[in-house]
Amino acid sequence: MKITVTAIKADIGSVGGHIRPSNRVLQAVEKHIEQHHKGLLIDYRVTFTGDDIAILCTHEQGTGSTEVHELAWNAFKAATEVAKDQGLYGAGQDLLKDAFSGNVKGLGPAVAEMEFEERTAEPFLFFAADKTDPGAYNLPLYLAFADPMYCSGLILSPGMFKGFKFVIMDVEHVEADKVIELNAPEELYDIAALLRDPERFVIEAIYSRETGEQAAAVSTTRLHNIAGKYTGKDDPIMLVRVQGAFPATGEVLAPFHLGHYVAGFMRGSHSGPLMPVKQNSTISFFDGPPVVSCAAYCVHEGKLTAPVDAFDHPFWDYVREKISEKAIEIRRQGFFGNAMLPYSELEYGGIVKKLEDLEKKFVVR
Ligand code: F6R
Ligand code: MG
Ligand code: MG
Repeated sequence: MKITVTAIKADIGSVGGHIRPSNRVLQAVEKHIEQHHKGLLIDYRVTFTGDDIAILCTHEQGTGSTEVHELAWNAFKAATEVAKDQGLYGAGQDLLKDAFSGNVKGLGPAVAEMEFEERTAEPFLFFAADKTDPGAYNLPLYLAFADPMYCSGLILSPGMFKGFKFVIMDVEHVEADKVIELNAPEELYDIAALLRDPERFVIEAIYSRETGEQAAAVSTTRLHNIAGKYTGKDDPIMLVRVQGAFPATGEVLAPFHLGHYVAGFMRGSHSGPLMPVKQNSTISFFDGPPVVSCAAYCVHEGKLTAPVDAFDHPFWDYVREKISEKAIEIRRQGFFGNAMLPYSELEYGGIVKKLEDLEKKFVVR
């Protein structure tokens, strides 16, 4: 059976700052979908990571379906009214446009979706990150799909010997989607040359070169490119199909032990280590650290199993402690150097005004 898995997420308000949505808001999203999904969706789940709510659903409408996107948009709109009613912080913050127009792309919410022929057994992972941007997934995806040091399947599993095709987007090109397709392993160095700049070049999708099947889909929304100003970090989501001709679940999870430094953290303006957290985790230290959660599912004829929390294991408690140390270490250096993002990432925020004022006071000797 051919199905589509669609994930759409938005920050529509949270309790006590940018920490987490309220239960009432979550219920409002769920209730709207419950009431309006019949004849459209096969199954769905509503979850949160930090202050972002994700709707994960299955259907047969293909990717970019107006009806599916509109259902999610309307659910977020309806729940925003509840957020306003409760006086939640940043109510409706990611709904950047007033009216729905065919697709949520470019309206604020982030989307990751894939259409595929279901395998006999169809395991996949749903990642949701908060306080960071889409380039945060560049390194773990590169390591899981192109580096035999992390993905042993590249040398042990014949179905993966041909490698994977990476579709990489230049997210600074806002007029239209600008993408490049590169093959691993032949073009590994070209892939690395782009992925090293995660604020500009973002992996959008990955395909098996053995079967042609899509393995991964990442949301590529950069909110400041839509709003023209800083309105919160993009907080990307990602779907990854696993096992068989794709990397094993553990090979996709493994690179997250690094806690690599990503853009985000406080005011979306700092570098912080990406911490793999349990599902439904909140945000704390310095509006962070940047976090990522992972729900593992199987899907059959569009019906989703209950999710397994992939980062809920004693191993990841140890990793979280190590990553806390990395977070504290970089925070000790405050605003200085690599602890805060370069000007190109801050130019949507208040520092622009400050530097303009200071410019007038400079003298050329
Ligand atoms: C980062 C984030 C927070 C806010 C910060 C200031 O993505 O959401 O760190 O930027 O709490 O929030 P405002 O400007 O809403 O007071
Ligand atoms: Mg937020
Ligand atoms: Mg968020």
